[in-house]
Amino acid sequence: MRILVLGASGFVGGALHAQLGAHHEVAGTSRRGGSGLTALDLTDHRAVRETLTRGVDLVIHTAGVVDLAAAQRDPDAAHAANVAPLPALLDAVEAAGAKLVYFSTDNVFDGTHDHYDETATPAPINVYGHTKAAAEHLVLAGGRHLVIRLPLVYGRSPRSDKFLARFSAPSIQARTDIVSNPLYLPWLAPALPALADESGVVHLAGAETVSRYELMTRVRDRLGAPARIVATDRESAPPDCPRPLRLVLRSVRHRLCGPDVGTALDDLSAGPAPAP
Ligand SMILES: NC(=O)c1ccc[n+]([C@@H]2O[C@H](COP(=O)([O-])OP(=O)(O)OC[C@H]3O[C@@H](n4cnc5c(N)ncnc54)[C@H](OP(=O)(O)O)[C@@H]3O)[C@@H](O)[C@H]2O)c1
Repeated sequence: MRILVLGASGFVGGALHAQLGAHHEVAGTSRRGGSGLTALDLTDHRAVRETLTRGVDLVIHTAGVVDLAAAQRDPDAAHAANVAPLPALLDAVEAAGAKLVYFSTDNVFDGTHDHYDETATPAPINVYGHTKAAAEHLVLAGGRHLVIRLPLVYGRSPRSDKFLARFSAPSIQARTDIVSNPLYLPWLAPALPALADESGVVHLAGAETVSRYELMTRVRDRLGAPARIVATDRESAPPDCPRPLRLVLRSVRHRLCGPDVGTALDDLSAGPAPAP
């Protein structure tokens, strides 16, 4: 299968690009290009169309503005990267006879329910969530494509190790009042073939529900990293962005479930330690 990963320099896209490349013909793009990736800025709609004329069966879309605080500061830029490119991209995917897998987020929900399955109605409370919900709406309109919603993703990634890099800092602020069932990144690519024929919305998440503070503390302890984990909550954290407090993803469509945190950390700690 010929696969194109949009956002292949990123945390999620980099892992998918590397892991799927072991079994498929995989090409990748990033905004800046380089390191074997094609430069493609999604805000250049003509370039989006041209990139897909090169022949592709599956387009995996992980590109865009993902930083919640950055999206909140600059809603226009977030919309330009996350929503505006979708019509041109969808046209190009259709013209290529390909399928789109669009990666979305638990932040399309408001965090007021015990858990969310695929039948739940999005109700975002921040700019990032609004852009992702709007993009989902466009992707789903055709009825043929797949939206995969993820919770917080953690683990090692080959091109953008933004999760583990945090443990090199002297201290990390982590919320005690935000909980989710985070997903271990290396588990994601092997799970995708089971969803190849699906369309609509699918949730993928891990088996254990933890606070951000608990997750970061357990990762720090297992890696033996020196970082101090500083507990914060809604009152003490910087007021950079409204954040849903409880985002637990469940599925009524499949039985796939990422590992619990302990199992994931057994795997993570077997790899190289984060740079000092
Ligand atoms: N990370 C998580 O915990 C998490 C959780 C839930 C959902 N997700 C979803 O997973 C996907 C990937 O997230 P991530 O954490 O891997 O993101 P990331 O590390 O920030 O990577 C974003 C990627 O998008 C590219 N990009 C940004 N703006 C672009 C533009 N205007 N045109 C073209 N490419 C652009 C970047 O290219 P450059 O490197 O060249 O800038 C990079 O390759 C996103 O859809 C996100 O909503 C992530």
